[in-house]
Amino acid sequence: MTVEQPDTPAPAAGGARTMIFPDAAAVARALARRIAAAVEATPALVLGLPTGRTPLALYAELGRLHAEGADFSGVTTFNLDEFLGIPPSHPGSYRSFMEAHLFRHVNIPTERHNFLDGAAADPERECARYERAIGEAGGIDLQVLGICTNGHIGFNEPARELQSRTHRVTLTAETRRSNAGLFGGDIATVPAEALSMGMASILGARAIVLLATGAAKASCVERMVNGPLTTDLPASFLQLHQDVDIMLDEPAAGQMRKRSGA
Ligand code: GLP
Repeated sequence: MTVEQPDTPAPAAGGARTMIFPDAAAVARALARRIAAAVEATPALVLGLPTGRTPLALYAELGRLHAEGADFSGVTTFNLDEFLGIPPSHPGSYRSFMEAHLFRHVNIPTERHNFLDGAAADPERECARYERAIGEAGGIDLQVLGICTNGHIGFNEPARELQSRTHRVTLTAETRRSNAGLFGGDIATVPAEALSMGMASILGARAIVLLATGAAKASCVERMVNGPLTTDLPASFLQLHQDVDIMLDEPAAGQMRKRSGA
């Protein structure tokens, strides 16, 4: 995959390729350019995509690039996760989120938007179907990730054990609080469970980019990059992958600078 080099990043501590940008808008612009360049080089690119507030600027930027002529018609997408127990049409579903913020604004054909079905009668079977679909698509070329303040990626929550493949998960209170905005701010109506790609499903991507912006992410970002591998911080397992870029704005990189004395 050919990848355009984004704005020259400032160096940071840790072994991962960490790029620090002045602000969240610069992060979004750089990654959108990278994705557009990758799609130009490989029109049938398979993208893994996250939800959350962090990628909103990226999705807006991809919409803008499409309006300027970028063609995404060959792309296939796989979303990382979905709430369990609500239909795809529910306004709080991640499918609804992606329709509103990305798919309505670019020309990726609907039949190549892949989601876990949170209303599936047999969730375990649905997880197995998703793993098969990723394999049949040839695997994920570029997996974009966000990170929760508790260090989860996808919905792989901190726990004594992490699941390797797509699975059913019980959400922590912190995660439900962080997602309450999708459910009118009422944590009680946020589903208690979800389906999520597992750690090996994520680490199986050929390249990974994790986005983190804002000071609230500074501590988990620092531990992800410089700390030990631990199931208490699922994102720390990204240290095992050979092609990971961590794209940060200044506030999200705040703790790393302290540690490195920069
Ligand atoms: C949800 C998603 C994660 C995402 C996280 C962070 O929990 N399942 O994939 O990384 O939100 O959200 P935000 O970007 O709003 O902080």
